[in-house]
Amino acid sequence: MNTAVAARSAKGATPPGPRGDFLLGSLRRVQHEPLELLREGFREYGDVVRYRFGNTRAFLLAHPDHIRHVLHDNHRNYDKNNVDYAMLRRLLGNGLLTSDGTFWLRQRRLMAPMFHRQRVAGFCNLMVNSTLEMFDLWEELALIGEPIDIADEMARLTLKIVAKALFSADVSDDAGAIGAALTEVNRQLGEFSLLDMFWMIPTPRKRRFRTAVRALDQVVGKIIDERRRSAYRNQDLLSMLLEAVDEETDKGMTPRQVRDEVLTLLLAGHETTANALAWTWYLLAQNPAAADKLHQEVVGVLGRRTPDGLDLPKLPYTRMVVEESMRLYPPAWAISRNAIGDDDIGGYHVRRKTNLIICSFITHRHPEFWEEPERFDPERFSPARSEGRPNFAYLPFGGGPRICIGNSFAMTEAQLVVATVAQRYRLRLVPGHPVELHPLVTLRPRHGMRMTVHRADEVVEIAEVSNRAVR
Ligand code: HEM
Repeated sequence: MNTAVAARSAKGATPPGPRGDFLLGSLRRVQHEPLELLREGFREYGDVVRYRFGNTRAFLLAHPDHIRHVLHDNHRNYDKNNVDYAMLRRLLGNGLLTSDGTFWLRQRRLMAPMFHRQRVAGFCNLMVNSTLEMFDLWEELALIGEPIDIADEMARLTLKIVAKALFSADVSDDAGAIGAALTEVNRQLGEFSLLDMFWMIPTPRKRRFRTAVRALDQVVGKIIDERRRSAYRNQDLLSMLLEAVDEETDKGMTPRQVRDEVLTLLLAGHETTANALAWTWYLLAQNPAAADKLHQEVVGVLGRRTPDGLDLPKLPYTRMVVEESMRLYPPAWAISRNAIGDDDIGGYHVRRKTNLIICSFITHRHPEFWEEPERFDPERFSPARSEGRPNFAYLPFGGGPRICIGNSFAMTEAQLVVATVAQRYRLRLVPGHPVELHPLVTLRPRHGMRMTVHRADEVVEIAEVSNRAVR
């Protein structure tokens, strides 16, 4: 933070920030280029930046201490009763991600055991086998040199895994419909229009949104109906949701509530991990030395056998690659909270109803905590180099009581998928393919990620031949 800004942060003061338009403040810019707006604010004004979006007041918080205050130390003063989550509720209803208060707490306690580490360990074989199934196509692609969109491919894979793990459902046939619907709602929620605020005005955009939600509802409806009809009682999350009875009311969940929870987990449980993996393949393609090191670790530990859960602690570099990828490209790049009552953060007065924006994309590049923040350097996550770094300087999964319930699931899955793929293949970006950030609800590559698939042993052989030639 520059000294001018520090001088202004007297107790109770209002933080500095852009004025924006007379009428709308920075509303138009946040609709069209939210990430640029926030990054510019941080560069210009420092750790706490004030914005006005129409009649909503918002502060961007970039410093880990301030973020810890909101998500952890004083979390009771902050909820999700704000415009961002109101938009998300149009899709997800009142599921675990969007609900609040005692209702949220009850649902979280109910579902938490399903996400414990031991439970997640039981999904390792599913994660690896689903990745291996993907290779039937990849083997052919490697032979003929045909590119694929690795972002789509990762979304199909993670969707298949989460549906099978949590609901014992095979959604392969619906993957195309889910992908298309999710792209539509992600775009609309991420680039909301002023007209969205006026429910009664019909627009083609709203029609498309409703059609997409109906398509997702159909898939979720099918998963739930099939289970209700079948005599089969798997001990999975879906059975648990259908059988849960509230101790106080002695009632089960309403069909609407089950729908909201299943849709939330299906979407939150695959879109984020898919993005993390797509960006990981991009970063490895741009950093061949890191890709070599990854391959060496995986082949050194596994040889030719496939990985399982017990291998995870033996693959630390693989884990660091995933962590570093989510530092540079955090899939959930920004989260927000509403201040229930007045508060004080970093010497600034926070009035009730202020929207607090926490942008991990910015905090993950904060120069006080990250050396050469733009550089891809997985080893910055080694225990020695992580020492002393504040917890909330790195928050791909959020933090405090509302930390991502699926974080172990996601890390296990990402580490296993990366190891299984890197053991056999190297991916290269198609020359000239444009790579651009698309910050919607999740951080997607705007034009997808077109890559070619190469057998890793061939890449290594070619590298050895060319190294010999150089010597
Ligand atoms: C790399 C993958 C993932 C990332 C980066 C990610 C990120 C996040 C973040 C940042 C939050 C906090 C939101 C907030 O505080 O406003 C969150 C919450 C949540 N995530 Fe994830 N997530 C991932 C994978 C998963 C998976 C695999 C599942 C489920 C299978 C999942 C389910 C959820 C749910 C249900 C919540 C709401 C939790 C609550 O409020 O109690 N996520 N996630």
